[in-house]
Amino acid sequence: MTAPNPPFETRTLPYGEAAIGEAAALIVAGQPVAIPTETVYGLAADATDSAAVARIYAAKGRPSFNPLIVHVLDLAAAQKIAAFDTVALQLAEAFWPGPLTLVLPLRADAGIASLVTAGLGTVAIRVPAHRAMRALLEATGQPLAAPSANASGGISPTRAAHVVASLGGRIALVVDDGATEAGLESTIVQGRSILRPGPITADQLHRYFFPLVFPSEGRSPVASVLEASAAVDHDRLATGLRPSPGTGSGLGKGTITAPGQLESHYAPSKPLRLNATHAQAGEYFIGFGSGSGDIDLSPAANLSEAAATLFDALHRADASDSASIAVAPIPATGIGVAINDRLARAAHRD
Ligand code: TXA
Ligand code: MG
Repeated sequence: MTAPNPPFETRTLPYGEAAIGEAAALIVAGQPVAIPTETVYGLAADATDSAAVARIYAAKGRPSFNPLIVHVLDLAAAQKIAAFDTVALQLAEAFWPGPLTLVLPLRADAGIASLVTAGLGTVAIRVPAHRAMRALLEATGQPLAAPSANASGGISPTRAAHVVASLGGRIALVVDDGATEAGLESTIVQGRSILRPGPITADQLHRYFFPLVFPSEGRSPVASVLEASAAVDHDRLATGLRPSPGTGSGLGKGTITAPGQLESHYAPSKPLRLNATHAQAGEYFIGFGSGSGDIDLSPAANLSEAAATLFDALHRADASDSASIAVAPIPATGIGVAINDRLARAAHRD
């Protein structure tokens, strides 16, 4: 009922020195700021300041058991926070800066507020590539905790206007640097499991997960077999909440490995019908590869383009006059796996 924070007049400033200066001043003062990354817009706060992190949770209305991703400038900064094994190091070297999040043991001397990790013994960490987030990391000199900049349970924002629609009045500043490039949240990896599929695909990860099968650059005849069987932890993805076996975290029984994988996490407010070949009465139709429908994710049937436009299409569909939404089938290959994962969550109703 009463808002946890005083209401804000949410300002949007175009990316540039002035915007980053104001954003950094707010971060230092303990206020969260919305800032684009190459995946989606994040709501960033100083990860070492528990009061600032609490304001992220308050602005999002997010359950506090759901931990946040820590963003840092480079691998050296990440190694001060998390313990890297060989595979993690190879992944970091291959894909950072970029849309890959690694869940790793939290170092005792990391200095990260325990609200960020929700008391888990692990931390999710990534080195973003986007100039705005990187400029903010440089200007503040602090690791920044940043979930997607939407109210809890809503669709992740890929444009500044999406942030304002979702969090307007609840945060002080949105730095606007246009639409995000990848359009889907980062791939999350723990050990050799993909906790959340994303822009870095299973194919790209397998050579690091299974180095003996991939002795050199290039293809392997067994790649497609592995694709079908190994890396995406479908069981965990499907059930959402899974007890994490044998991790020494503080939450005890029912400890969550990837709590953000709640099935309702990416929901628009309207019913969503998947694998639809055509619109039924009253439906907003999101096409793929046909140029038809109210919007087409990629008339040329390009999956990367579809990933980049998916959330914007869902936002538009949600804001439209139509009572419900239908989406054309999207091939579940490459980044199409992540697209289908987000669509399945968006369609899920309890
Ligand atoms: O692309 C992205 O990852 C964006 C941008 C802003 O970086 N961030 C993002 O954050 O998607 P968020 O909070 O919406 O999703 C973070 C996910 C959640 O599913 C959370 O449960 C998971 O990361 N996570 C965080 N810490 C974890 C941990 N220690 N173990 C397992 N999962 C963790
Ligand atoms: Mg999110």
